Amino acid sequence: MAERFDEGRTMSPEAYLDGLFEEDADLTRVTASIRERGMPEISVAPGYGRLLTMLIAAARCKAPLEIGALAGYSGICLARGLSQGGKLTSLELRPEYAELALANLTQAGFGDRAEVIVGDALASLDRLVAAGRRFDFFFIDADKENYPNYLERAILLAEPGALIAADNTLLRGRTLNESKQGPAVQAVRDFNRRLATDPRLMGTHLPSYDGLALFMVR
Ligand code: SAH
Ligand code: DHB
Ligand code: MG
Repeated sequence: MAERFDEGRTMSPEAYLDGLFEEDADLTRVTASIRERGMPEISVAPGYGRLLTMLIAAARCKAPLEIGALAGYSGICLARGLSQGGKLTSLELRPEYAELALANLTQAGFGDRAEVIVGDALASLDRLVAAGRRFDFFFIDADKENYPNYLERAILLAEPGALIAADNTLLRGRTLNESKQGPAVQAVRDFNRRLATDPRLMGTHLPSYDGLALFMVR
């Protein structure tokens, strides 16, 4: 099929590049399930979903931890990259979202390779630390005020060489706008700077879509 161009109007690089890919039935079903329920349409951007799958596969990850499940869109992307014997753990505050995420993961064929833990992510993370659990990939995508706390917990839970990806580092431009000083904006600014300066980490910030941080724990 030929690419669909936008009738001479300016098209974002993201829209152009997303248009090159075939429709994805499992992810389309997740998006429909979100609309049906009137849930927020804030799943990870499709290009970053594909990046998550590729990173998990390339790094041969077996134990990814997701913070913020929503309806399972990014969970499916993470689970798709798993190597043999791998399992996704996902943390979600709202029981009805956790249930939907697990249902969508199951429909996509990952029911036996995914666990969704319901409750406040910070409390769940502290339990995982206390239990001595280790993870090789982190996808941080829940409440933005807690991003710096999620980063500290992720480093505690990380196997050497673990990857940390985090969504929405630009907060639709608010991160760059000095006049914006709300708690989420300040927390994400702090988070972004910590990633860039922490000697335990190496990586980069990707500015496409709403921004994605991509770092490795040394
Ligand atoms: N990663 C998902 C989108 C997550 S949206 C995807 O791309 O498909 C953010 C999610 O974080 C929402 O489902 C919200 O309920 C959840 N969340 C918000 N605060 C939380 C908290 N304190 N603990 C756990 N989850 C939280
Ligand atoms: C929004 C987008 C997200 O991906 C998210 O995790 C939270 C909020 C938003 O656009 O409001
Ligand atoms: Mg997000």
